Amino acid sequence: MVQILAIESSCDETAAAVVAAPADIRSSVVASQIATHGKYGGVVPELASREHLRAIVPVVREAMTKARAGWADLAAVAVTSGPGLVGSLLVGMTYAKAICAVRGLPLIGVNHIEGHIHAVLLEARADGAEVELPALALVASGGHTHLFEVLPGMHYRLLGKTRDDAAGEAYDKVAKLLGFGYPGGPILDLLAPHGDPDGLRLTLSKMKGNTLDFSFSGLKTAMLRWSRIEDMTGEILARRALQKLHPRPSVEQWLSVTPQRTLDAIAAFQNVVVEELLTRAARAAEACDSRSVIISGGVACNAGLRREARSGRLHCPVYFPTPGLSTDNAAMIAAAALPRFERGEFDDLTLRASANLALA
Ligand code: KG4
Ligand code: ZN
Repeated sequence: MVQILAIESSCDETAAAVVAAPADIRSSVVASQIATHGKYGGVVPELASREHLRAIVPVVREAMTKARAGWADLAAVAVTSGPGLVGSLLVGMTYAKAICAVRGLPLIGVNHIEGHIHAVLLEARADGAEVELPALALVASGGHTHLFEVLPGMHYRLLGKTRDDAAGEAYDKVAKLLGFGYPGGPILDLLAPHGDPDGLRLTLSKMKGNTLDFSFSGLKTAMLRWSRIEDMTGEILARRALQKLHPRPSVEQWLSVTPQRTLDAIAAFQNVVVEELLTRAARAAEACDSRSVIISGGVACNAGLRREARSGRLHCPVYFPTPGLSTDNAAMIAAAALPRFERGEFDDLTLRASANLALA
């Protein structure tokens, strides 16, 4: 049995997982740093590196213990080598290299975005299904918003990407300016169904050039302008006070400090983000004659996006990861490493962390 230990530390989650071929997640441990970065409304790179250093040893140990695996049971160690925060990537990479050097195991560097795509392929395989290729993959998270064509043999073609903010980043920034907690995506997603999206008129972005590229900065600016016209001071202070009392408020608690006009604005914002993502995904899937659509990354947790994507507008089967595999985790890194292991494609200890590592 081929078993791979994978380590992921590209952003603000320290994660380790043991996955056995072809699709058995023996363990998947994720230590979140939300409590550390929450008060700053976003990830602080220096703090992230420090937290990874603190968490890496216990997280890997827990993943090994939960999988009931010893070092001798592993065939390789996989690690995210980019894209991401260099200081964060280095912690996972150094630890993975150390294990490989001491235990004589092969090292496999994995692109984080490829990991997000493999989260879906892994779960489909575990369910006894295979995602039909060529597929269209939309990866939308706090750091990236990309459209890829996934071709047989795990080759990728980049079709479009964001020119400014990532979709999750737009959620986080809008949530921050409205006085909600971090990360903002899950909170705004829970509140959106309580608003009327027609309550605020927001327009879709118009761009020259590649019609499969995204842009979310105009939308963010529109939300900022709206929040300045309305006097938000009172409600923002109420939301901050709520978070002092309850670090993770419930929907009801958020609703108690969020008037209808703000709920309407959140619903309108979510509608536009979902529209931006799915219009381009549908256009790309049609242009590539895709057999299936994969939607992954933290924003794939979004209930509005899931509902709309499954409404039939993508004209082919749509695959989402379960929420635990949508946000950053190491099982997806192990999944991306398995085909590389089978092909004998290994990295040596000179593998470098790359903040802007491209997939295609
Ligand atoms: O994939 P991920 O864990 O980390 C990155 O690689 O960036 O994604 C985190 C991002 C955050 O921006 C978060 O706000 C967003 O995913 N997110 C959501 C939802 N859940 C997480 N955005 C919208 N709706 C959600 N339900
Ligand atoms: Zn990610």
